[in-house]
Amino acid sequence: MVRSEQVGERVAVIGAGYVGLTTAACLAHMGHEVVCADIDEERIAQLNAGETPIFEQGLESLLREGRANGRLTFVLGAANAAATATICFLCVPTPQSADGAADLQYLEVAARQIAPVLGADSIVVNKSTVPIGSTRVVAAWLERADVSVVSNPEFLREGTAVHDFLHPDRVVVGADDPAAARRVADLYQTLDTNTIVCDAASAEMIKYAANAYLAMKLSFVNSVAALCEHVGADCSPVVEGLGSDHRIGPHYLQPGPGWGGSCFPKDTLALDWMAREVDYRFDLLQTTVEVNEQQFDRTVAKAEAFAGGSLAGQQVAVWGLAFKADTDDYRESPALHIVQRLLDVEAKVRAYDPEVRSLPFEGVDVVADPYEAVENARVLLLITEWDEFRWLDFDRIHRLMATPHIVDGRNLLDRDQLRSIGFQYRGVGR
Ligand code: NAD
Ligand code: UGA
Repeated sequence: MVRSEQVGERVAVIGAGYVGLTTAACLAHMGHEVVCADIDEERIAQLNAGETPIFEQGLESLLREGRANGRLTFVLGAANAAATATICFLCVPTPQSADGAADLQYLEVAARQIAPVLGADSIVVNKSTVPIGSTRVVAAWLERADVSVVSNPEFLREGTAVHDFLHPDRVVVGADDPAAARRVADLYQTLDTNTIVCDAASAEMIKYAANAYLAMKLSFVNSVAALCEHVGADCSPVVEGLGSDHRIGPHYLQPGPGWGGSCFPKDTLALDWMAREVDYRFDLLQTTVEVNEQQFDRTVAKAEAFAGGSLAGQQVAVWGLAFKADTDDYRESPALHIVQRLLDVEAKVRAYDPEVRSLPFEGVDVVADPYEAVENARVLLLITEWDEFRWLDFDRIHRLMATPHIVDGRNLLDRDQLRSIGFQYRGVGR
């Protein structure tokens, strides 16, 4: 393993969230010296006390390792980390603004905080997902002719962030300064992967194009699943047959209740905003987003059909609030969109999730037990594919519900077993 001392780089990571903390922990694991900063005092105190503030497989042991061997430290405030760094990663949020564009306020604040303290010939790396052209925008905020700005987008998924970082499909490094690009690419040299070095704008485009393509693939398969329901086909063999074509591939073809999370929704809208700015109509992308909204509606419509057409005043159980399994993140979760629709039609919603124990809006009773969630319910909607849902006592659930109706938004449960118990079951695309 190459130690950072050999290449002489000291790394700062600004932002200790899903991307920043994973980047910091993994780069330290790969042998680099890393200082990670956040503005959140409580988060830094937690990290310095040996606690892991987010639920990510494998992260805790890497944080422990980094603290124990001294390669990973945490400080409050971006400037405190950047002052000693030769390469400084920006991993701050780039949320959606009201018009769909990416909101760069956190990036600007972080850039302005580090600008005065950066060492000569250091490099600032945009790892946040940023609009095409942002590398130059950050350079303008820094006002440091001696500092290069490099784009190094991140492709990790929540839940498998550590694995994805250490085993990436590719590393993308974009810069208008080839020497700076090479120094950033060298940080990853111990990883067995394809490194794509290109100009900054292309690197930024790769990130948005990848997320938009994945979202489109999901909207496509959800559309195929919807059609299967109408024509009497079963989407499971259909998806298997589709994915067996190596030009299509088997991954990322699982129909669901609609896609969500902290990135696809904002990144698809941000790319569409960028297209509109240059008068390009990205119809395929707009349809991808519309189809996803329809998928939320379709999931609710199945529950309504089970309740005889209207859920007004009816008790409805929801299993799963996280935007997918194995994470506690519910930002832009399909479950939130579906719960909101249920509340709009005046259903009484009781929800359970193994990791999410409260929601940011009123009107939903979030309980700590899956059986309590289904008591007296007319319909149970399964929205997140938590494995534990497979192994629950469905005889007991059948007794607890007012009427035994299940909408399985992930095709997770054993349909034949449920029907034999007496449930009426609707999955996706079958
Ligand atoms: P996050 O909200 O989990 O973490 C961001 C952190 O940055 C927060 O802890 C916040 O307090 C901190 N922060 C904000 N301003 C700061 C400042 N000036 N100084 C120090 N810390 C500051 O966000 P995230 O999910 O890690 O996403 C970060 C970026 O990475 C976004 O652009 C996102 O689109 C992109 N991204 C996210 C993922 C993912 O799976 N979450 C994957 C790839 C790319
Ligand atoms: C996604 C991308 O997969 C990452 O490559 C990217 O780095 C990240 O966004 C980002 O830019 O932030 P993430 O949002 O963590 O990662 O989660 P995914 O696993 O991609 O899931 C997104 C949504 O699609 C979830 O709601 C999930 O349930 C849904 N999904 C995924 C399906 O419905 N079916 C599938 O087959 C796969």
